[in-house]
Amino acid sequence: MRIGVLTGGGDCPGLNAVIRAAVRKGSEVYGHEFLGFRDGWKGPLENVTMPLDVGTTRGILPRGGTILGSSRTNPLKVDGGVDRIQANLDSLGVDALIAIGGEDTLGVATALASAGVTVVGVPKTIDNDLGATDYTFGFDTAVQIAVDAIDRLHTTAESHHRVLIVEVMGRHAGWIALHSGLAGGANVILIPERPFDIDQVCAYIEHRFASHYSPIVVVAEGAQPKEGTMELQAGELDAFGHVRLGGIGQVLEREIQARTGYESRQTVLGHVQRGGTPTAYDRVLATRFGLHAIDAVHEGESGVMVALRGTEIVRVPLSAATSELKTVPLERYEEVEVFFG
Ligand code: F6P
Repeated sequence: MRIGVLTGGGDCPGLNAVIRAAVRKGSEVYGHEFLGFRDGWKGPLENVTMPLDVGTTRGILPRGGTILGSSRTNPLKVDGGVDRIQANLDSLGVDALIAIGGEDTLGVATALASAGVTVVGVPKTIDNDLGATDYTFGFDTAVQIAVDAIDRLHTTAESHHRVLIVEVMGRHAGWIALHSGLAGGANVILIPERPFDIDQVCAYIEHRFASHYSPIVVVAEGAQPKEGTMELQAGELDAFGHVRLGGIGQVLEREIQARTGYESRQTVLGHVQRGGTPTAYDRVLATRFGLHAIDAVHEGESGVMVALRGTEIVRVPLSAATSELKTVPLERYEEVEVFFG
């Protein structure tokens, strides 16, 4: 078989580990051939490829990013996009695709599978918000990077008696904020699932200073104030219709300082959370996903995605990946509120 591999959407530490595992087992155990598609769905749409074999995937296990490149190209928004992909796969002699991505990339994979393309999905996102899998690789690395930053911010916050606000990623789901805030000993954690009350946030801050300790506020980029309490700016949209986020840290910096009188500064971790080497946990999970994805392709599966359930890797319908977003349940958030203030 000739198998195409692509990585789509925001990059994520562990993508290279998936590619390496699938290629290694696919070539050496099953005797398949591989072809890399560049930059997500742009590759099969515009026929942009690169060689992919055991040689080209050597040494990439600990490397962040993706050797294939990524993009947020959406072929479903391009006239005749699905037909063009099918024609390109035929002309290249590609029998099956492994699509590694999040909600958007796997949404396209689902549409292609319905159109008759043989495709197996691998879930990725640092946000950990895909419904069908317990964890996605990249999340553990992002949380560790955020915790390292929070640990450092504690000491400088103390020295200057400041409020330090850390903005982390998390568009619709606050998993990174929740886990990094909990592990980093934050005094307030704000997530998209639970609109916040700025008066309550300021009360926590005052309380923290009363115990002679400087507060750290961890906020997910998608966090929202309760309706009508604060103004937020709208951002641009990408090809999948997502608004470009960022800026809640700055808004909080201004509001908290104005309301409490304490000097407040924000740190936006941004893409630092997605860069660099994956943690050991993410390398193991990504490698297992790659091994199971190539098994699924070899066994003639299509329209499925590999997923983690407990400690097992299972196959689920691709549509399950995109049908439900895994957000933070309110009781999980309420569990950590005892540490606020
Ligand atoms: O989906 C993963 C993610 O890192 C989100 O947390 C974030 O909102 C988004 O990607 C940022 O995307 P981009 O790198 O395209 O700005």
